[in-house]
Amino acid sequence: MPEPVEIFEMGPRDGLQNEKRLIPAAEKIALVDLLSQAGFRRIEVTSFVSPKWVPQMGDAAEVMAGISRVPGVSYAVLTPNMKGYEAARAARASEVAIFASASEGFSKANLNATIAESLERFAPVVAAAARDGIPVRGYVSVVTDCPYDGPTPPANVARVAAALRDLGCYEISLGDTIGQGTPESVDKMLAAVLDELPPAQLAGHFHDTAGRALDNIDASLARGLRVFDAAVGGLGGCPYAPGAKGNVATEKVAAHLAAAGLQTGLDMTVINRAAQMAQSMREGADV
Ligand code: HMG
Ligand code: MG
Repeated sequence: MPEPVEIFEMGPRDGLQNEKRLIPAAEKIALVDLLSQAGFRRIEVTSFVSPKWVPQMGDAAEVMAGISRVPGVSYAVLTPNMKGYEAARAARASEVAIFASASEGFSKANLNATIAESLERFAPVVAAAARDGIPVRGYVSVVTDCPYDGPTPPANVARVAAALRDLGCYEISLGDTIGQGTPESVDKMLAAVLDELPPAQLAGHFHDTAGRALDNIDASLARGLRVFDAAVGGLGGCPYAPGAKGNVATEKVAAHLAAAGLQTGLDMTVINRAAQMAQSMREGADV
């Protein structure tokens, strides 16, 4: 039996958040509905963040209201604060995610807060979600390299990952936000994080800016990670990380894992259609 590995689909959120053209909610809904047929267990749909900061995600409530939910699929959203959390709960998000940074420079740019301030803001979100029975995932960004502060010390990643775990996140996704990690820097970072958390509580989130995402996934597999974030069509980028390119493409990761004898359980016909749809959304064509 091939060993299972999960791909957490990021396309509708990380994939589209950086697009300049304001994509109509109907197109985003069509993408999520197609992805719901692909066999994903979790899909990140949108972000309940400030529309002044990320205009593309300003239609989060409309998108969440419009999707056709498939039983067994978890529809995740980003929530940076209580305002975002309340909106996510009203929109019936299956799970929410809080997102911290391993560097002060990126924390300030992405959240207008120090790392400590951001963790303070997340605490009531996690507490409210616990009361409401909504699982919370955590992200740590810039886990190997920061566009503002340079290389990230692995100990800083371990500290923030442990803080998110202590708050109550069920899984921590480790983000190579600008895709500058190498198998060596990823391995060193993971060695530090694994002193704090078991691999079953971690996910790898690699942007493919330098074309090393698959190598970095291999380095993570060797350290025992079995969940990877990816976006159909390789869409994406972070508006507050200059030079950040797309998430590694879901179809690329699934093929790579299959060749290594690992099974994602995804329907590649649907994935390829979704990748095409995502690409044409980026180009502004009719989908
Ligand atoms: P701020 O300006 O310090 O916040 O931003 P504020 O509390 O002063 O509020 C400013 C305005 O935003 C106010 O409106 C608030 O009501 C409103 P005004 O009174 O001026 O009209 N506001 C909100 N509106 C809707 N939903 C909300 C919300 N919160 C405040 N939740 C804030 C602080 C955290 C809000 C801002 O910095 C923000 O929204 N940041 C999010 C940035 C973001 O989404 N980045 C991309 C996602 S992270 C990522 O891509 C990395 C990841 O993929 C992993 C990786 O690759 O590393 C996850
Ligand atoms: Mg990302």
